[in-house]
Amino acid sequence: MRISVIGCGYLGAVHAAAMAKLGHDVVGIDVDERKIAELKAGRAPFFEPGLPELLTEVQKTGRLTFSTEMADAAGAVVHFVCVGTPQRKGENAADLRFVDAAFTSLAEHLKSGDVVVGKSTVPVGTAARLADEVQAIAPEAVLAWNPEFLREGHAVKDTLTPDRFVYGVPSGAKGEAATAAMDKVYATPLAAGTPRLVVDYATAELVKTAANSFLATKISFINAMAEVCEAAGADVTALADAIGMDERIGRKFLNAGVGFGGGCLPKDIRAFMARAGELGADQALTFLREVDAINMRRRARVVELTRELCGGSLIGKRITVLGAAFKPQSDDVRDSPALSVAAQLQLQGATVTVTDPEALANAKQRFPELSYEPDTKTAIARAHALVLLTEWQEYRELDPAAVGNQVDEKNVLDGRNVLDPGAWRQAGWTYKGIGRP
Ligand code: UGA
Repeated sequence: MRISVIGCGYLGAVHAAAMAKLGHDVVGIDVDERKIAELKAGRAPFFEPGLPELLTEVQKTGRLTFSTEMADAAGAVVHFVCVGTPQRKGENAADLRFVDAAFTSLAEHLKSGDVVVGKSTVPVGTAARLADEVQAIAPEAVLAWNPEFLREGHAVKDTLTPDRFVYGVPSGAKGEAATAAMDKVYATPLAAGTPRLVVDYATAELVKTAANSFLATKISFINAMAEVCEAAGADVTALADAIGMDERIGRKFLNAGVGFGGGCLPKDIRAFMARAGELGADQALTFLREVDAINMRRRARVVELTRELCGGSLIGKRITVLGAAFKPQSDDVRDSPALSVAAQLQLQGATVTVTDPEALANAKQRFPELSYEPDTKTAIARAHALVLLTEWQEYRELDPAAVGNQVDEKNVLDGRNVLDPGAWRQAGWTYKGIGRP
C-alpha cells in the first residue's frame, strides 16, 4: 500500500520505517528540514535502539522516502498523522496546533477513498471534530483514530508487534472502509495473532489516555508507598515484589524512585484532567491531581535526601548526576526527573556534573547552565556524592570498590533503587535508596 506518515518524531519516524518493513511504500513528511535530511541519509534523528538498523534495511528496498513537502502525501491511500501534542504553555490542556496544522495542510491533497489515520494522543472529542473538517474538504475521504502505545526505547518492537490495535472508526460504510484499510496495513502482525478492537472515535481516544493514566497511577501508587515506607522504616522494593506476585496487581511499573517523566505520561494526565473538566466530569479525575503531586514530590524528596547525604548542606558540594534522559534507552529529556533534580541541586548551591550515555546534547539545550561530561569515570572523579537518576545498565553495573577510589566522599543516592545496597555499604559507601531503610 502507499502510505504517508505526517510527523517524523519519536512516533512517526519509527512508524514510517516499520510500515516500510511490513512491505508498504512509505513517504515520511515533516516540516523540520534537519530531521528529514538525517532520515534521508538513513540516520535516526534521535536515539532509539534498533531504528538505525531498520532504516538501513528498509531504505535499501527503495520503499521508504522522506520529504518536507506535504504535497508528497498525495498518491498515498492511507495517511498516518503522528505529530506531537505537547502541553499548552501555562495550562494543563494539550496544545493541538500541530495536529490542526497537519490536518489543514493534508486535507488539500486528499482524494476520494483516502483514509486518514490519527495516531497522536488527543483529547477525547478531537477525532469527531477533525472528521467534520475532513468531510468538508474531502467528502469521500474517511478519518480513523488508531492510538499508538509504543514505549521509547522499545519503539521498533512495540510498533511491529504491539499488544493490540485499537481502531476508532465512524459507523457505517465509511467505518468499514477504514477498518479494511487498516487491516491491510497491519496484515502481517494481525496474521501473527495481534488482537484488534474496533470502537468509536471517543473510545479509541480514551483508551490511550486511560492507559497512560493507569500507568502513571501505578507508579505514583508505589511512590506513595515509598513515602510511607520511609516514615515506617520499611522497604518498598520488597513490598513491590510481594504485592506484584499477586497476578491481579503485577510487578511491572511498580518501581519506586524519582518518578515518571517524558513527553507522554506527565502531559497526558494533565490534558486528561483539563478535558474532563470541559466535559463536566472533572470529579472523576481529581485523583490524577494527586498522582501528579506525588510524582512531583519525589523530585523534591530526592533533592532533600541528597542534602542529608551531604551532611545537611549542598553548598560547595560536587555532585555527579548519573543520567539525564527521562528513562534508559532514550535520549529524550522532556520533563526528565533527572534534569529537574540536577537543576534544583545546582540552584541550591551544589556544583553539579551530569553524565548520560545518549542524552547530553538534548540536556544541554534544555539546561545550558549545568555542566555535562560524557565520560562516566571523569564525571565521577572527586565527587562528594553520586546521584543515580536514570537506570542505564552501565550505572547499574558500577563497581562500588572501583568507583570508591575515584570519588572524594563515598555517598550514593540511588534514585531508582537499582543498586545493591549491601555491596555498596560493604565497599564503605553511605547508601540511600528511595523508600528503603
Ligand atoms: C509511555 C507509555 O508506557 C506508552 O505505552 C505510551 O505509548 C507512551 O507513553 C506514549 O504516550 O507515547 P514512555 O513515555 O516511552 O511510554 O515511557 P514509560 O516506559 O511509560 O516510562 C515513563 C516514565 O515512568 C519514565 O520516566 C520511567 O522512568 C518511569 N517509570 C516507569 C517509573 O518511575 N517506575 C516504573 O516502574 C516504570
